[in-house]
Amino acid sequence: MINIPLMNNNIIKEDVDALIDFLKTTDRFTQGPKVQEFEDQWSEWLGVKHSVFVNSGASANFITMSVIRDLYGIGEIIVPPIAWSSDISSVFAAGHTPVFVDVNMNNLAMNDDTILDHITPKTKAVFLTHVLGFNGLTKKLVDELQKRNIPLIEDVCESHGASFNGKKCGSFGLASNFSFYYAHHMSTIEGGIICTDDDRFYEYCRLYRSHGMIRESTDEDMKKAVCSEYPQLRPEFLFVVPGYNMRSTELNAVIGINQLKRLDKNNSIREKNFELFLKNLDSSKYYTDFCTTGSVNYAFVILLRNQDPELFQKLTNKLLDNAVEFRRGTAGGGNLARQPFVLKQLTDFDPSTLKNAEFIHQYGLYTGNYPDLSEDKILALCNLLNSI
Ligand SMILES: Cc1ncc(COP(=O)(O)O)c(C=O)c1O
Repeated sequence: MINIPLMNNNIIKEDVDALIDFLKTTDRFTQGPKVQEFEDQWSEWLGVKHSVFVNSGASANFITMSVIRDLYGIGEIIVPPIAWSSDISSVFAAGHTPVFVDVNMNNLAMNDDTILDHITPKTKAVFLTHVLGFNGLTKKLVDELQKRNIPLIEDVCESHGASFNGKKCGSFGLASNFSFYYAHHMSTIEGGIICTDDDRFYEYCRLYRSHGMIRESTDEDMKKAVCSEYPQLRPEFLFVVPGYNMRSTELNAVIGINQLKRLDKNNSIREKNFELFLKNLDSSKYYTDFCTTGSVNYAFVILLRNQDPELFQKLTNKLLDNAVEFRRGTAGGGNLARQPFVLKQLTDFDPSTLKNAEFIHQYGLYTGNYPDLSEDKILALCNLLNSI
């Protein structure tokens, strides 16, 4: 019995101690100075101007797609089939139409040429997910989107610390989203963050996070302009955009501040683990040609080399027998275009046209990769996989 849970020890005693110390000294519990401090530290770590801490990665997705609507209008958003449900539901919720583009096998991200082929005059943004720690960007994509004036939104919820061309993923697009759910590279228990260099985008994110209220803006000119446009409404209760309450708390921010201190160190262990895993995997049975440059994987991606339903069944049985926790289909359970909430809206779309996403859906899964996973366990996992 190998016994590898998906995640282990992501909230440690040090985090709990920091939280207890904070609770003994504060009388402010919801969004306040600690949230601001975490946002400032995160912006510095990522290399962006602004961050907005929210209560989940899905909320970050929702706000981002809403702000795209408010600033650029309703239209088509290019999305991946290998991502998370909220990458698509946020697009629908904001009134846009998702346009699916198939992914590469070597980084599980949308193919750059296919993205560029799908851009139309209706395209409002490309919403790219960096999947399970792999960088999903190419120079061609970044340059072409800039040239064509199409906003790039990066979902980095699964790839904290991944980089492209020496810069962190999440610092290339108009905005980016991260999740701090327990199972990710770092955690605030629940939580998410939106990052941007764009002042206007930032102000809108702040409004959306807090019911759509103008008083949440840090831009005094913006506040004055809106208040004078609606003199009959009270500035404390002037709801400019259709927001919700997606705030987080001081408690979650304290955990985030403490976790950020060890993120880089933990990530370098994850990188070594992933290398060891790939090196010892039988490449005749499993796909091992991943592009690992700049990647920081919190999961071991296991993809069959060839279509083989019998082998896949044996694989899942073996993992279950050995208490190795796994998720089939990789991120988001595989081809999201197959999900009922998508097909109910895109009634003419055939999800089987997304060939690589379909393969990953049928013959892919992932297991956990975290700092306290021992070398012995990684090698035992490889031996188990190779023996099937
Ligand atoms: C790519 C991606 N986007 C968004 C989310 C949503 O994040 P959360 O679980 O914090 O809502 C996830 C969740 O795991 C994810 O993997």
